[in-house]
Amino acid sequence: MLYIGVDLGTSAVKLLLMDREGKIQKIVSKEYPISFPHPGWSEQRPEDWFQAVMEGMKELVGEADKSRIGGISFGGQMHGLVILDQEDQVIRPAILWNDGRTFEECDYLNYEIGKERLSQYTANISFTGFTAPKILWVKNKEPENFARIAKIMLPKDYIAYRLTGVHCTDMSDASGMLLLDVKNRRWSKEMCEICGIREEMLPQLFESYECVGTLKKEIADQLGVPAGVKVAAGAGDNAAAAVGTGTVGEGMCNISLGTSGTVFISSKTFGVDRHNALHAFAHADGNYHLMGCMLSAASCNKWWMEEILGTEDYGKEQQKIFKLGENHVYFLPYLMGERSPHNNPNARGTFIGMTMDTTRADMTQAVLEGVAFALRDSLEVAKSLGICLERTKICGGGAKSPLWKRMIANILNLKVDVIESEEGPALGGAMLAAVACGEYGSVEEAAERIVKIVDTVEPEPELVARYEERYQQFKEIYPACRPLFELIK
Ligand code: XUL
Repeated sequence: MLYIGVDLGTSAVKLLLMDREGKIQKIVSKEYPISFPHPGWSEQRPEDWFQAVMEGMKELVGEADKSRIGGISFGGQMHGLVILDQEDQVIRPAILWNDGRTFEECDYLNYEIGKERLSQYTANISFTGFTAPKILWVKNKEPENFARIAKIMLPKDYIAYRLTGVHCTDMSDASGMLLLDVKNRRWSKEMCEICGIREEMLPQLFESYECVGTLKKEIADQLGVPAGVKVAAGAGDNAAAAVGTGTVGEGMCNISLGTSGTVFISSKTFGVDRHNALHAFAHADGNYHLMGCMLSAASCNKWWMEEILGTEDYGKEQQKIFKLGENHVYFLPYLMGERSPHNNPNARGTFIGMTMDTTRADMTQAVLEGVAFALRDSLEVAKSLGICLERTKICGGGAKSPLWKRMIANILNLKVDVIESEEGPALGGAMLAAVACGEYGSVEEAAERIVKIVDTVEPEPELVARYEERYQQFKEIYPACRPLFELIK
């Protein structure tokens, strides 16, 4: 049997075809536009996602033996609000995970409803990117759109809906809506009331590895695949990436260096970060996880390379970097505001420390290091909860860079295990489909059988010490800039 994993990302959808042993047969990627209608806002058209998925799937299965396609599943960008009316028409563009417009609604949730109640109902507090404050934003700012809402869903769930006709989601992605009682894996009646929505508007809940239905006949015909192809609920992209890197079960860590940057810690038991800086979410293996999420990670490097330096040759720029741990230039990577741990939509990207002898390479180095320092901020929160980690997996576009992996190993002082494929969410999606089709007994079993570590980047004690000093300086920059961010917004 063959399985399709769909990673519905922010800049593109990646589709992957995997066989029953977990061998990747083919990968296809299709881009779509993103719009930033105001500073700090970000939107996409669900129809663009669907068209890209369909085009990509046709190309993916093109030369394969289509009769062997058994199942499809997803990893999807999390938190995005997709709303449909009675006729199943999309009401407005999706408001994405890195959109910061809902700061007033977040203040209402965090300070009028109160963090304690939110945490009691959902295990989390409100962040601007989460879905519930977006629902409140539509209610407050676009009441005519709010009145038309019949169905609420997340990005990958829109694709599942178009493919199967089933209005479904999974526990990991639902956790990021601030509408799920994460501990008990059911919708929170209190949160529905607070947001002014009815529970029927929300998707049916599944575990990530459960089958939600089969492809609609017209879709199967368009793709030329059997009508019985199963669709599994899938997961938020971070949980799917964790599956794809074997970060399942107890106490494992994965770092994702994609558009966002995340530190993901799997756990067999439910736990909440008492500082509410890390998200406490359900995992795609049926358990739980804690996660810190920075809003701009590999996207900072992309911005720096392509928009500012005007080059796409990332490798050439990184070849000029030699002086690890000695850079006096720092970069705060808050180009879309920041989520973990600062929770500040007004935070901004900042370079500091340049002198007349600062070079282009120093600035590039500062960008890469700034992202790693910001990941360390989340790791520090995990450590303060008593979580001890010695190693992490890594995935995402940024994980292709040996230099960046070395910086991460030394700045976070973790052994970085490199997986055969860095296609975390797409591979995880295909693995979830395989579990849903009965190929493996559990997500853990699939991970054990499929995921292979091919290299480990070890921290170098001398460099760890130098970076420790640098991190202590980095840590001081955000608090010093915070009042300025309020002024220049
Ligand atoms: C996680 C988050 C991001 C997106 C990226 O909370 O917002 O990692 O899922 O697609």
